Amino acid sequence: KILVLDFGSQTTQLIARRIRELGVYSEIKPCFVSLEEIKGFNPSGIILSGGPSSVYDKDAPMISAEIFELGIPILGICYGLQLISYLLGGKVERSEKREFGPAYIKIIEENALFKGLKKGEKYKVWMSHSDKIEFLPEGFYVLAETENTPFAAVAHVEKPIYGVQFHPEVVHTEIGQDVLRNFVFEICGCTADWSMPSFIEKTVEDIKNLVKEDEKVICALSGGIDSTVTALLVHKAIGDRLIPIFVNNGVLRKNEPEEVLSLMKSLGLKVDYVDASSLFLERLKGVEDPEKKRKIIGETFIEVFEKEAKKFDNVVYLAQGTLYPDVIESVSFKGPSATIKSHHNVGGLPERMHLKLIEPLRELFKDEVRKIAELLGLPKHIIWRQPFPGPGLAIRIIGEVSEEKLDILREADAIVREEMLNSGWYYKVWQSFAVLLPVKTVGVMGDARTYEYVVAIRCVESQDAMTADWVKLPYDLLERLSNRIINEVKGVNRVVYDISSKPPATIEWE
Ligand code: XMP
Repeated sequence: KILVLDFGSQTTQLIARRIRELGVYSEIKPCFVSLEEIKGFNPSGIILSGGPSSVYDKDAPMISAEIFELGIPILGICYGLQLISYLLGGKVERSEKREFGPAYIKIIEENALFKGLKKGEKYKVWMSHSDKIEFLPEGFYVLAETENTPFAAVAHVEKPIYGVQFHPEVVHTEIGQDVLRNFVFEICGCTADWSMPSFIEKTVEDIKNLVKEDEKVICALSGGIDSTVTALLVHKAIGDRLIPIFVNNGVLRKNEPEEVLSLMKSLGLKVDYVDASSLFLERLKGVEDPEKKRKIIGETFIEVFEKEAKKFDNVVYLAQGTLYPDVIESVSFKGPSATIKSHHNVGGLPERMHLKLIEPLRELFKDEVRKIAELLGLPKHIIWRQPFPGPGLAIRIIGEVSEEKLDILREADAIVREEMLNSGWYYKVWQSFAVLLPVKTVGVMGDARTYEYVVAIRCVESQDAMTADWVKLPYDLLERLSNRIINEVKGVNRVVYDISSKPPATIEWE
């Protein structure tokens, strides 16, 4: 396995993902972990990530130079390379010529790192740095150069220490996967034994061993991929000693409860269904503030779930679909970031209920979960379902939530969904949905004046929801959406299209 030490780069997660794509397990740890912890992890190789700092910054993240004495192969990427140079006695400087974007490296020395690539040949890589190495530490030599960077790739003459100035983890670096493959297999001697079928087998076995004969596990189902895959893995291990609970919070989409229940049934899960919609809607009455709505929905969910779980005896575990990015986000090297919206709706549940946690997806990236979902036979529309927020339609009705408004939004949303699916756009975008605005505008229908609500359509593309851009949907699709919503949804006489990017707007309107 490969350890990636994170120095705060935007692309650190990609490094681990690329390594796993090669069939080798990889984990990310913050750069400040102790040498003991690194040794305890027992990696076959260590990758030092890039990062936004300069090695000369006052608070530049560092590591102990003893890491180079462990005899474990090391690859430094960008900041990682500069750190190697700096710590071992080379010199790093601010560069006159910053390099961002594509560059061509020329390989000038044959080396295991470039196995399969040709000496003298030029290859396209992706650069992103403003510091450069002035001279290398003793014992290092140059493997490749670019026009602006004489030290685009370097290696130590005898120790297994390597560095590249470019980013092999991004797709724009043509030879990126070759470099990582060579590092992992040729230099670190790893074998490719990380695969999703073996992950399923091992996870199921682990859960089987963990949960005793008389113990039960509960989990909350949302109908999304993470909670569904979690439930299926636990179910494979302990059968109906898993109690999946599905709570209807009153702000789900049209036909959603029925669809979730029938899917779960087809997957062999016996779901405990709780319709708490009237309780949720009662509590949302008169509430306009988005953060208050989120809080009420989150807290009511916990209350309902807790009460329901008490009906079952010998419940010892709570299974949750936490993914790897959530796990690393909490430890990684990151500056303070302000809370814009409180997205984590049900935190604190296991502590409150005195339950132990089972998180079978803790080590996985989303694309790996999708692979498992496929292997477990989940249908495409679940595997590639667009994200749907926990507070559901409540944060897509601007202002107070009411039955009347929910009915209007459900119909409009169903039309958006249907048209996006039929036109093939649904799976191409990150999210597409309708928002109900708290304004009425004047219209004319037949010969009569109307005074009705406005629906906004939001459709964005994004990689990770951190940034997003509005999608240039074809006019004829927009036309169909508008026509259908105005004609078919009672109470709406105007449709607008949201053309704001994130930032400065957010994806949801609340
Ligand atoms: P924003 O609106 O912050 O949304 O750009 C980013 C992503 O997060 C989803 N979102 C939520 N998900 N609970 C959730 O589970 C929430 O309160 C929440 N608010 C936003 C949003 O749909 C988008 O995918």
